[in-house]
Amino acid sequence: MPILVKEQQFHLQTAHTSYIFHVMENGELGQLYYGPRLHDQPAFPELTAREEHGAMPAWRLDHPDVQPETLKQEFASLGKGDYRDPAFQITGEDGSRISEFRYQNARVIAGKQRLEDLPATFDDSADDAQTLVITLADAVTGLTLALSYAVFPHQDVIVRSAKFTNHGRATVKLDRALSLQLDLPDANYDLLQFSGSWARERHLIRRRLRSGIQSVGSLRGASSHQQNPFIALARPDTNEDQGAALGLNLVYSGNFLDQVEVDAFGTARVLTGINPTEFGWQLAVGQSFQTPEAVLSYTDRGLNQLSQQMGAFYQQHLVTPRFAQRPRPVLINNWEGTYFNFDEEKLLAIAREAQRLGIEMFVLDDGWFGHRDDDTTSLGDWDVYAAKLPNGIAHLANQIHGLGLQFGLWFEPEMISLDSDLYRAHPDWTVGAPHREMTPGRNQFVLDMANPVVVDYLYDKMSHLIEDARLDYIKWDMNRNITEAFSQTLPANRQEEFAHRYMLGVYRLYARLTAAYPDVLFESCASGGGRFDLGMMAYAPQAWTSDDTDAVERLRIQFGTSYGYPLAMMGAHVSAVPNDQTGRITPLATRAAVAYFGDLGYELDVTACSTAEKAAIKAQVAFYKAHRDLFQQGTFYRLDSPFTGDKNVGSWQVVSADGRRAVAARYQILNQPNPAYNRLYLRGLLPNQRYQVAGDDHVYFGDELMHAGLLVPNLLTTTQGVDASADFSARVFVIAAVD
Ligand code: DGJ
Repeated sequence: MPILVKEQQFHLQTAHTSYIFHVMENGELGQLYYGPRLHDQPAFPELTAREEHGAMPAWRLDHPDVQPETLKQEFASLGKGDYRDPAFQITGEDGSRISEFRYQNARVIAGKQRLEDLPATFDDSADDAQTLVITLADAVTGLTLALSYAVFPHQDVIVRSAKFTNHGRATVKLDRALSLQLDLPDANYDLLQFSGSWARERHLIRRRLRSGIQSVGSLRGASSHQQNPFIALARPDTNEDQGAALGLNLVYSGNFLDQVEVDAFGTARVLTGINPTEFGWQLAVGQSFQTPEAVLSYTDRGLNQLSQQMGAFYQQHLVTPRFAQRPRPVLINNWEGTYFNFDEEKLLAIAREAQRLGIEMFVLDDGWFGHRDDDTTSLGDWDVYAAKLPNGIAHLANQIHGLGLQFGLWFEPEMISLDSDLYRAHPDWTVGAPHREMTPGRNQFVLDMANPVVVDYLYDKMSHLIEDARLDYIKWDMNRNITEAFSQTLPANRQEEFAHRYMLGVYRLYARLTAAYPDVLFESCASGGGRFDLGMMAYAPQAWTSDDTDAVERLRIQFGTSYGYPLAMMGAHVSAVPNDQTGRITPLATRAAVAYFGDLGYELDVTACSTAEKAAIKAQVAFYKAHRDLFQQGTFYRLDSPFTGDKNVGSWQVVSADGRRAVAARYQILNQPNPAYNRLYLRGLLPNQRYQVAGDDHVYFGDELMHAGLLVPNLLTTTQGVDASADFSARVFVIAAVD
């Protein structure tokens, strides 16, 4: 029984963790414990014991010892003596911002229901999930607050969300409505955040918590390249293999906030949810507001374990089941190969060559619609560009399908160009504030996804193409962030709802398309990694990880991304050199060795490759297919971090579920003269099992490979006889059990 309810005390148990909270004297909820699993008890006096502090507001005259500021609360508001940032705030009809939500009842429900309008976790596979719903009520406004805790025992995950319903007599305004609050009893943690910018997304930053507020977030209308909703708190001595850590992520793609506040007593309040800046919601009588879900997980077995259990959770309980385990096709995308400059003949030549190399899907990227020859026109006009493709998309698709390849198409549904028939017909569909100039981004503007008519238009256009061209795949791009946030469909007092309503419109379009065309694989993209988040993953099982295809940059980007997301979510392509983002020339083998650890694709003009390059690509594709189950579904371990030490080496590994097969790779950015002694310590093998490493006759036991490691020979001791740079090298190790 993962949920134990006793005398207004709630104990959520997973295989290895406990989460305990209770109803306090005033009827509000108090947080008691989150960490390694505890035996259940009728009461936890040590956890509820309080200290009295001087000169602090108390709840009531007869309760001077109950001082909100010193309590660990479960979902706190502001204004009654707790001065930390709150989980929610409500302005009542009279302008008061005080609320007191008191316990009403608790229900335990078998399984986990999806949410109506938001992407959400589920338990279709009857994986023993249970959901606890606590209902609280505020007597003055008549609002109820339902706090939901879905407990997934096998992955040590708890999913939380909150729902406000107005049962009162007047409209109120939600000024903030976060998804999760967690008051931890101490602040002896490092905060791990994943930060960067376009083309260098999700670099790991690790820093100690300090007094005051530390936060990451986005106000871009997208989860963003700059910060990611995934964060972790780890004890200072926690590393990849041991130590306590908790991970937090949000099933949301818009403006978000992840915040940790360390207070005067050294406790840490964690908050996550929709960013309160640029948010406000009029909650009329009879209406509800549902927050996005927050995913919480804990382990005392290190950061690899945290990533593995959260990744396994997403694959089982977030990603659409039809695709979660389905092998993802090796694709070729024409973007870096041709950019806007292509015609049918060129595309077919690439597709034919790709097919000979073993590639399984051809993806036609930007430039196939309207009259689009560069990024200044045609977004919104989702009809074929006849000058480039006079026979139409369906004709091209038929020929691609005739080669035995799947066919995928690029869209950027949420965008509009001024030079488009759509803009000429419906300028009011564009996001923009009255009497203000619209700010361009990549020469384009944003469609008002809060307007249901826009969603209908896009659904009609996209579904027509899906059917006409029998699309197997859609790449859904989004190449700018929102400015002048305003919808012509919303009244003045609802404009603060725009950012969230925009996301609800995006989700509605995704939900309709994925329901109507369940076999179409969606890959989300926002100039690469600008919307790499769980909200997208609920509809699009994989995402284009970054526009940066340089192997060295990708090593860091994929390494950082792997903390929060499994490899099956990461689109990873081999492109041509010099690389278009960095100008760097890396060996083809290194580019592939990085791209193997994700959903492999190629993004170059294969017709321009030499015979030797084509042979290498053919071998790479065959290698990937032979180990695809490991790369896409195996257990992933980070071994050596490119973010620490001399930052010159990175290594990682995937292992099969039974521990009998593994592939590891070690990357060295710059070659070094007379380098230090170097070993690669593998993980996740069976200690008593014998293994062979491909190309090596010796038979190792798993314990030797893990604890004594593999010697990684010096790459070069001299440059004599070398005809290419010895920098940017990669070594791939294939390990298989032998009986
Ligand atoms: C940004 C994407 O990340 C690229 O892969 C490509 O699709 C371009 N947009 C096309 O405009």
